[in-house]
Amino acid sequence: MDQKVYELINDQINKELYSAYLYLQMADYYEEEGLSGYANYFEIQAAEERDHALIFRNYLHANGMAVKLLAIDQPDKEYQNFMEPLEAALEHEKYVTALINDIYAAADEVKDYRAKQFLDWFIEEQCEEEENAMGMIDKMRLFGSDPRGLYELDREMAARVYSVPSPLAGE
Ligand code: FEO
Repeated sequence: MDQKVYELINDQINKELYSAYLYLQMADYYEEEGLSGYANYFEIQAAEERDHALIFRNYLHANGMAVKLLAIDQPDKEYQNFMEPLEAALEHEKYVTALINDIYAAADEVKDYRAKQFLDWFIEEQCEEEENAMGMIDKMRLFGSDPRGLYELDREMAARVYSVPSPLAGE
């Protein structure tokens, strides 16, 4: 495997684990504010990010490459209202999309078609992640300032269930 592609993929394991940490912090914020449905939503989001890290890790192993786990940064955001984590989540997903694009571009440069095919799942996933994050912002903007609306939203978030992402499901 090309060294740059390898390093970007290895780094991405760390970025995904950081994403899990960030979303867990958002879950903590909502839990502490009494919105346990939103806390559930972000706990599941954190589990998905952990899964993303595992998918990258498995890819390196499947290609005979060593995994080097790096230190995970501390998420240090303080949230002042229910909207702020949602906006931070969208910003973060845009950042992750840019990281995936960078790996794709590096793979493209060295004609690593296997890596490109592997990354296709993440390109689709990022599209979904950004769409979900925008939807969360819209709902909060439309209904979040009304206590009854917020109560209903929190119930909706409580209904989210974890499902194993397809690249991990077959293992
Ligand atoms: Fe692993 Fe939310 O992207």
